[in-house]
Amino acid sequence: MNNFTYQNTTAIHFGADQIAAITDSIPKDKKVLVTYGGGSIKSNGVYDQVVAALSEHNWDEFSGIEPNPQYDTLMKAVERIRAEGFDYLLAVGGGSVVDGTKFIAAAVNFAGEEAWDILAKQASVESAIPLGCIMTLPATGSETNIGAVVTRGKDKLAFMNPLVRPQFAVLDPQTTLSLSERQTSNGVVDAFVHVMEQYLTYPVNAKIQDRFAEGILLTLIEEGPKLIADLQDMEARTNVMWAATQALSGLIGVGVPQDWATHMIGHELTGNFGVDHGRSLTIVLPALMQVCREEKKAKLLQYAERIWNITEGCDDARIDAAIEKTKQFFSQMNTPVSLSEIDLTAADIDTAMTSLEAHGMTKLGENGSIDLARSRKIYETAL
Ligand code: NZQ
Ligand code: ZN
Repeated sequence: MNNFTYQNTTAIHFGADQIAAITDSIPKDKKVLVTYGGGSIKSNGVYDQVVAALSEHNWDEFSGIEPNPQYDTLMKAVERIRAEGFDYLLAVGGGSVVDGTKFIAAAVNFAGEEAWDILAKQASVESAIPLGCIMTLPATGSETNIGAVVTRGKDKLAFMNPLVRPQFAVLDPQTTLSLSERQTSNGVVDAFVHVMEQYLTYPVNAKIQDRFAEGILLTLIEEGPKLIADLQDMEARTNVMWAATQALSGLIGVGVPQDWATHMIGHELTGNFGVDHGRSLTIVLPALMQVCREEKKAKLLQYAERIWNITEGCDDARIDAAIEKTKQFFSQMNTPVSLSEIDLTAADIDTAMTSLEAHGMTKLGENGSIDLARSRKIYETAL
């Protein structure tokens, strides 16, 4: 196991009716800007609960943060905060709203030329407005982590900074009952791939991390299909919500190598063709497992045995079976496992490759061994 320092300071209010907890989680002397998306929180009752919980606070709202939050929209919030002096942000919605709000928090006091540099040049962020969140879509883990992904045109870029980790996160599984089947399955597979990015690398004898990771994978494999069968299954909603948070809270990633190539290669499908984040990952991951099967051999065999009970046959046969099982799970979740399933062709690979290169994604993976030629091979394998 590698050395690490671990700290996760987000207070988590988990369970039914926990939105009320924000009353005491946000200091009363703060001027609060509530940020949200396209209005799902108004139709599922979450907004009303926020209004009730903030009855003694000085607050206003900023809506319209899109899925894959857009830089220009977020900068409008930044201007408003500067003009009106808000000093606390409450993000209410899915990963896009939380990520967008993290970026807003960092951009308000950004001293550099243009806040886009936080993403494009990884410019340093010295301060951020404090924020909390009510997460209504289990998927990204953004509710307790330090990352955010922002989109500007075809550029979808990430930054990480401990200053934007939410001070608290409300996770009430009841708020997820209004998610469509597509949003639900996108969330399950996103969480699944987050675990794989931190697990399917090479062994460093990190037993706790491995077994936590395997526990999350097994939970998602058990609970995900229950939601496809019944979107109102509260117990499955509850377990999926906690699984998604733990998949990317940072805990399973300490002291182990991490991959993240599936995400980077997938982001170009979202940026260029509007593919949902979760669906970009289910297309890329099986192909990446195939192309990187030699360097990931030991972990692929562990995954085959511990997750899918595959113990018979030679190494290659067990790895083939594990990749096949992974694809079957994604298909069971009604997510695509090939580019052709979403009508993308070989010509579209050239487009994605151009952006991947422009974004400097030339040494991906835990070994930095996925160069442009191998990324192309991964897209081609996914055809
Ligand atoms: O905008 P509203 O009206 O709220 O509707 C949203 C949106 O249309 C809707 N929704 C959210 N909660 C709902 C709901 N609809 C009904 N009931 C609810 N309870 O769902 C739609 C999609 O929301 P979005 O926030 O875009 O989805 P998700 O949570 O999957 O977030 C995706 C974004 O997060 C980034 C992705 O790249 C993408 O930009 N990621 C962030 C990460 C992080 N911060 O650590 C890691 C991830 O790998 C990922 O890259
Ligand atoms: Zn993801």
